[in-house]
Amino acid sequence: MTMEPKNVAVVGATGAVGTEMVQTLEQRNFPVKNLRLFASPNSEGKRMSFKGRDYVVEPLGEDSFEGVEIALFSAGSERSKKYGPIAARAGAVVIDNSSAFRMDPGVPLVVPEVNPHTVKNHKGIIANPNCSTIQMVVALYPLHKRARIKRIVVSTYQSVSGAGQKGINELNDQVRALYSFHSVVKKAFPHQIAFNCLPQIDVFAPDGYTNEELKMVNETRKIMEAPEILVSPTAVRVPVFHSHSESVNVEFESDLSPEEAKKIISGAPGCMLVDDPPNSVYPLALDAAGRDEVFVGRIRRDATVKHGLNLWIVSDNIRKGAALNAVQIAEILQ
Ligand code: A2P
Repeated sequence: MTMEPKNVAVVGATGAVGTEMVQTLEQRNFPVKNLRLFASPNSEGKRMSFKGRDYVVEPLGEDSFEGVEIALFSAGSERSKKYGPIAARAGAVVIDNSSAFRMDPGVPLVVPEVNPHTVKNHKGIIANPNCSTIQMVVALYPLHKRARIKRIVVSTYQSVSGAGQKGINELNDQVRALYSFHSVVKKAFPHQIAFNCLPQIDVFAPDGYTNEELKMVNETRKIMEAPEILVSPTAVRVPVFHSHSESVNVEFESDLSPEEAKKIISGAPGCMLVDDPPNSVYPLALDAAGRDEVFVGRIRRDATVKHGLNLWIVSDNIRKGAALNAVQIAEILQ
C-alpha cells in the first residue's frame, strides 16, 4: 500500500523525543508533504535538518495547526492539554507522547504490536503510552496470548533520557563536576543521579506509589485489554543515558516453559531474543540504544509459583518507548 504524503507537525521538536521523532520520520521514509517544527519561544529560528533540507523551528501558538494532518506531540503534558484539542479541532490527528490523555476512555492508547485495531476509534487524539509500559507489553503480550497473565511484578532501571534533554544534561554535568571536584547541581532529579539509583520517578500518589508506577499498572491493562491483570511495579532511575531495563516476574494461568517462551519471543513482532547466559549474552542498555527492537533475555522459570517466569527486558526508551511507537501509529493511520 502506498502512503499518501501528509502535512506533519512535530511539537517539542527540539527536545530529546522530538529530535528523535524527526529522525524516525526520515529513517522510515514516512511520506511527508510538508513538515512544521514547533518548540518554545526560546528555540525560535533554530534550524533542524530533515531529508537533507533545513527547517526553521517556530514558536508554538494557537494558530500553528492550519493544514496540519498529523501532529506528533512531545512537549510535556501541559502543552498537550492546551494545544492537543486545538490541533484536533483544526483537523489534525494528534499522536500525543504525554500522559495527558492516556487513560481517557475515548482516547486509544496504542502499541502497534499489541492493539493496532484501536487506532480507528480515535476522535482526533491518540495517546502514545509510557516508555516503560511500551517495552513491557511488546514482550509480554505474545506470552499472554499463549498462557494468560495473572500477575506481573516489575522493577525498572530507567535511563535519564526519560526525563528529556535536561535529564541527559544533568547526568553529564554531575559526572564532570564530580571528576573535577566541583559541587553537584540538582535540578532534573530529586537527588544526585550520578553514581546513584533513585527509587522515585515522577511524584508520589497517596498510596505510596509514584505516578510512573501507576502508569505501568493502568496502561498495561488498557493496552492489553485485560483489566484483570495485576501489576506490582517499582520504578527506579539509574545513571544510564539511554534505554530502560526491566526485571519482570510473571505469573501465568497455565504452564509456559522457558523454552516455549523463548520460541514465542523469537517470533514476536518487535522483539528480539538475546538469551545465552553461559556466554554472558543477555540484553544490555548500551546495546539497545539507537535500536528499534525490544530485547528480551534471562528467561527462566520462577519456581516459587505454579506457572511463573522471570525475564529481563531492555529497549531504547526514546525510540520504541516514544518516537518510534508514535511514528508507527502514524503509519497505521495512513
Ligand atoms: P525548547 O527546546 O524550546 O525548550 P525535553 O522533553 O527534551 O525537555 O523537550 C521538551 C520539548 O518541549 C522541547 O522541544 C521544548 O522546546 C518544548 N517546549 C517546552 N515548553 C514549551 C512551550 N511552552 N511551548 C512549546 N514547546 C515547549
